[in-house]
Amino acid sequence: MTTGCPAHADGAACPVSDRARAFDPFTGAYQIDPAAALAWSRAEEPVFYSPETGYWVVSCYADVKAVFRDPLLFSPCNVLEKITPFPDEAMAVLASYGYAMNRTLVNEDEPAHTERRRMLMAHFLPANIEAHRDRVRVLTREKVDAFIAKGRADLVEEMLWEIPLTVALHFLGVPESDMARLREFSMAHTVNTWGRPSREDQIALAHEVGRFWQFAGEVLNRMRAEPHGQGWMHEAIRQNALHPDIVTDSYLHSMMMAIIVAAHETTAHAAANAIKLLLTDGAGWRAICEDAALIPNAVEECLRYAGSVVAWRRQLTSPATVGGTDLPAGAKLLIVMASANHDERQFQNADSFDIYRDNATDHLTFGYGAHQCMGKNLARLELRIILEELSRRLPHLRLAEQEFTYLPNTSFRGPDHLWVEWDVAANPAEGAERARFEIGAPRRKDIARSVVVTAVQTEVEGVISLHLADPQGRPLPRWTPGAHVDLELDGFDRSYSLCGDPDAPGYTVSILREEAGRGGSRRFHAVTPGTVLRLRGPRNHFPLDEAAPAHLLIAGGIGITPILAMADRLKRIGARYHLHYLGGAEARMAHLARLSRDHAGQVAAHPRDRAPRADLAALVAAAPPGTRISACGPARMLEALQTLTATRPDLVLAIEHFSAGDDTDLADNRPFEVELADSGFTLPVPADRTLLQVLRAAGIDIASDCEEGLCGSCEVAVLDGTVDHRDKVLSIAERAAGTRMMCCRSRGAGRLKLAL
Ligand code: HEM
Ligand code: FES
Repeated sequence: MTTGCPAHADGAACPVSDRARAFDPFTGAYQIDPAAALAWSRAEEPVFYSPETGYWVVSCYADVKAVFRDPLLFSPCNVLEKITPFPDEAMAVLASYGYAMNRTLVNEDEPAHTERRRMLMAHFLPANIEAHRDRVRVLTREKVDAFIAKGRADLVEEMLWEIPLTVALHFLGVPESDMARLREFSMAHTVNTWGRPSREDQIALAHEVGRFWQFAGEVLNRMRAEPHGQGWMHEAIRQNALHPDIVTDSYLHSMMMAIIVAAHETTAHAAANAIKLLLTDGAGWRAICEDAALIPNAVEECLRYAGSVVAWRRQLTSPATVGGTDLPAGAKLLIVMASANHDERQFQNADSFDIYRDNATDHLTFGYGAHQCMGKNLARLELRIILEELSRRLPHLRLAEQEFTYLPNTSFRGPDHLWVEWDVAANPAEGAERARFEIGAPRRKDIARSVVVTAVQTEVEGVISLHLADPQGRPLPRWTPGAHVDLELDGFDRSYSLCGDPDAPGYTVSILREEAGRGGSRRFHAVTPGTVLRLRGPRNHFPLDEAAPAHLLIAGGIGITPILAMADRLKRIGARYHLHYLGGAEARMAHLARLSRDHAGQVAAHPRDRAPRADLAALVAAAPPGTRISACGPARMLEALQTLTATRPDLVLAIEHFSAGDDTDLADNRPFEVELADSGFTLPVPADRTLLQVLRAAGIDIASDCEEGLCGSCEVAVLDGTVDHRDKVLSIAERAAGTRMMCCRSRGAGRLKLAL
């Protein structure tokens, strides 16, 4: 082993820092908390050479994702390689068993990989995962039944390893055999591939791995004798007969061994990590006990915060620059997803655990792109059901005093034991399951918290302000001007911009009573202090660019709410701004008095009963170059501004609509094709389905909330093709740029290529 990196093999002037030299993924800090152990790297040295392992370590979100995104430059060929080479003696033991672990899916190069993946994908599609739901539920219930009266259990031993293993065997079509033996085999495979066993242990390990290899071969032979067998491996055997060049013999044997581990250890560890984390946090556990709809997002946040696959590998096929560091061809990379998942640039307050986090699904624990975990939706289903059963039947569960230990290795992480306790006398009466979870990524609509109305204040006739707080008095998440929240009450679900003080622990929204509306505003006008509402967000699709040289704020009617928060902020930071407030009768313009008081000299009010109409054309014409125009109000006002600014590319227009309106005719829908550049396949989008529906059915995780082109959560990046934009989020200039689209509504005018 060199003392320097491969680029400076003699060690002279090698830039390997002391911390990089000290990095050891098999012991110490990395084993306890890999994300914390690499905090220094995320801050100072995002890519470094580790002489201890011979790998370049990649720790930041953008770099890890970029590596996953390009399987040609960053080959997965080393994914199942022994990270600690075995001595000849141990290799001879392996050879004596005929051990020949080779390419599966996860370590296969292109184009063979995508051809094979496409052929074997069907069992994993959301529609087919459905078939496993009842089995997971029954198994979980049986396990809980077996210990619920005991008051103390090691969840790993008594349920968590066996549920995923049983489900995995059924999914694969492998007959259930000696489960405990399979568990031992899996641990041996993990240490063999990702661990650093001592020299003596390597011999024993080689025997165990050799036996596992032979076992996999025997199972395969038995399955080959059943041509009509059910399950994914049976399907692979049939495809092997039809396309032996794509689904090869060697693939079948290697996959049989690798998948037993991939499908069960990953999920068992993920469940143990999640329960440990939720019980340690307390608040998250209480929230899922009260509201099972929060479980899917809690699962994603657990996978982000403490995932079960913490690092993966790739090897460079040509020289490349990663995170600003030049790497030679052949360089081996250890890409640490656990660290990427704590990258502040991707996840706000990344080190805090927050089950309401609305981009938790962006975690990289399932990998990303062409090789992204095919079993992610089966794993999600298992994790959700396990958490639902435990939180419903044992809400009073607590962690017992214990020392946690982990099997030392670079990649698979979960406690060896998880002791929990509860007071049996306080076990609640058995109730029915509280949620039937959809297959796939969580819906943002479900990520809602309870808030209580602390005060109701009349602003002007027809407009009230509601002051909202956390029922337990905890501060609500921070927000920035332009942000909105969604409030739900009695089946009504409406978006309102925040307009209070962002530093206050609670929120304020102002609501116009719309007599001609569908009843939502009238219902919210009837609330009284003490009413509990459900709240989603805050989210900000209308952010303020504080760096703009000048700001023109334009509000129409109740559109004043986000604009007011913006004006307050711009005043506070000493920015240059003017605010124009257009309204009907002066007496009905909310917050006018406060604006005149706090923003005197910067505000012009244009009440129609007192003053001539505002001359928007003149305002736009007078705006100095670089001005950012932020506007919220009725559709007509926003359309006028879009037209007026179309000939002023030196201005930036940001707008926020009140509603989606309904200006699209479904009869206009045309079918189109969409090519997914990162995943490596193409999908047809028929006229009667949205792009969002088609992507989800293919197992692609896409967030969504409004599903009417209004909120911006389903945005995807467009690499090529013409978009038929039908959303209310993008400005004319953004539409013209053609690099983004809202896939819940917008469609392709012909073939589209997306960065997915
Ligand atoms: C691949 C994680 C559960 C089957 C992967 C990869 C990761 C991963 C990190 C490599 C991704 C990449 O290279 O981009 C996980 C985690 C799980 C889980 C964290 C549980 C929480 C499962 C289950 C199954 C499964 C239950 C099967 C039933 C696969 C397969 C691949 C894969 C077949 C290879 C995909 C390919 O290379 O095309 N998984 N996995 N996984 N996983 Fe999972
Ligand atoms: Fe809201 Fe698509 S989900 S814009």
